[in-house]
Amino acid sequence: MTEESAGDVIRRDRFSGGPARDFLSSLAADERIFEADLAVDRAHVVMLTEQGIIDDCNAADILSALDSVEKDGHAELPGGEDVHEAIEAAVIQRVGEDGGKMHTARSRNDEVATCIRYRLREDILDAIEGTLALREALTETAAEHTETVMPGYTHLQPAQPITVAHYLLSYEAAVARDTARLLDAYGRINQSPLGAAAFAGTTFDVDRERTADLLGFDSVLGNSMDASSARDFLAETLGALATHATTISGLAEDLVIFANKGYVDLSDDYSSTSSIMPQKKNPDTLELVRGTAGDAVGGLSGLLTNLKGLPRAYNRDLQLAHPHAFRAVDAVVNATDVAAGAVATATWNADELAADAGDGFSTATGVADALATTGMPFRTAHEIVAAAAEGIDDADDAATIAAKLDAAAEGVLGEPLWTRVNRETVEAALDPAESVSSRDSLGGPAASAVETQLDDARARFGDDADSVAARRDALAQANEKLRAEVDSYV
Ligand code: ARG
Repeated sequence: MTEESAGDVIRRDRFSGGPARDFLSSLAADERIFEADLAVDRAHVVMLTEQGIIDDCNAADILSALDSVEKDGHAELPGGEDVHEAIEAAVIQRVGEDGGKMHTARSRNDEVATCIRYRLREDILDAIEGTLALREALTETAAEHTETVMPGYTHLQPAQPITVAHYLLSYEAAVARDTARLLDAYGRINQSPLGAAAFAGTTFDVDRERTADLLGFDSVLGNSMDASSARDFLAETLGALATHATTISGLAEDLVIFANKGYVDLSDDYSSTSSIMPQKKNPDTLELVRGTAGDAVGGLSGLLTNLKGLPRAYNRDLQLAHPHAFRAVDAVVNATDVAAGAVATATWNADELAADAGDGFSTATGVADALATTGMPFRTAHEIVAAAAEGIDDADDAATIAAKLDAAAEGVLGEPLWTRVNRETVEAALDPAESVSSRDSLGGPAASAVETQLDDARARFGDDADSVAARRDALAQANEKLRAEVDSYV
């Protein structure tokens, strides 16, 4: 059969083209789901044969034709509205009219929905692995810096001393939740719509469980109308990706600021320079990581706008829905990989960090805590320290600050501070390292508390890495099983 006539079998003359032909076609974008469509076709044909819907001979011809279509690649497909139609046309070209039996008991609606899920689950596993690599970089860098004191900020102003480990583990915890959200989304991606047909099921005795199993899906979507039209799995996946992109945009922003202050040196591999200013070393990669949130959030917004108010069941708008997810996942995976590399190769400058850790009277809270431990109400302690804070500057040594606190106490209490608390306790509270080590409450920055956080981070890394490996394994096994079934016919 010629290319032309194979195409005609599917589209017939009335729908063979016209000015809107390119507008209608998703064939180019469908390259992303070319392999997925071949797998879906194979599983469907194996099932149709096992159910006695088509015979072994037809199956052998169609399955051999699919191998040949795969070998030739997406670029060699005949034209068509989409990859589903083009592959069917290519099969009919090779097999003759009986190639058209491949499309028995299904529709492009359940077919495309299956292809998107089949492909997206691989992409989401890549995204999850990206988050794992970033978590590993954060955790292992943190392990080297449990004693590296640095300024901690709120409102971008020095607030309280912390350590580099405590800071990095704050991001590890957030990225771990991003991993969890992606894993959760994976569970709902990995359900099979195949066999739902257009939306109202089929008169043929299909075995939907069988195709689901051959394609590595965990389960079958139980309502055929939902199965072929639902795209909420895209929304939650993009929601998880956009959340993760937002998480790493904050990390990137911090690192840009810290590099600017000389607290951290980025590796040259993750920096760029200026085409005119020879002295420049710019944190461009991290700025692009920060900017990737725009792609992900924009994709989520585009997707939700596409889906909003769609009537049941399939509508062609849906052809424009999943590309949002594929574009976003590519952007986010790249950004996450770069963030992981930048963190793993950066050098933290302990001396610069320590020198600034007490700036802006960042130990003030610790001093107020020290006063409050004597039985003084915390509010009174806060008032005394706040009164002193106005007159304290970064050049003051501990003795000078202690004297200023004492003067403030006179003003508030009408008596010297040293009748309430001893001077050594207050001076110790003014030391940033001391301030950190005294904050050993659960989750705090003291090295002892951070050790627990490191243990937790490593444990959840192991669990999540196992989860991903199990899912990859299940997909690889399904692939082998499907190939073995196909080989028994061809
Ligand atoms: N290319 C289409 C998509 O991506 C396939 C489904 C077409 N179905 C239809 N009834 N027009 O959504």
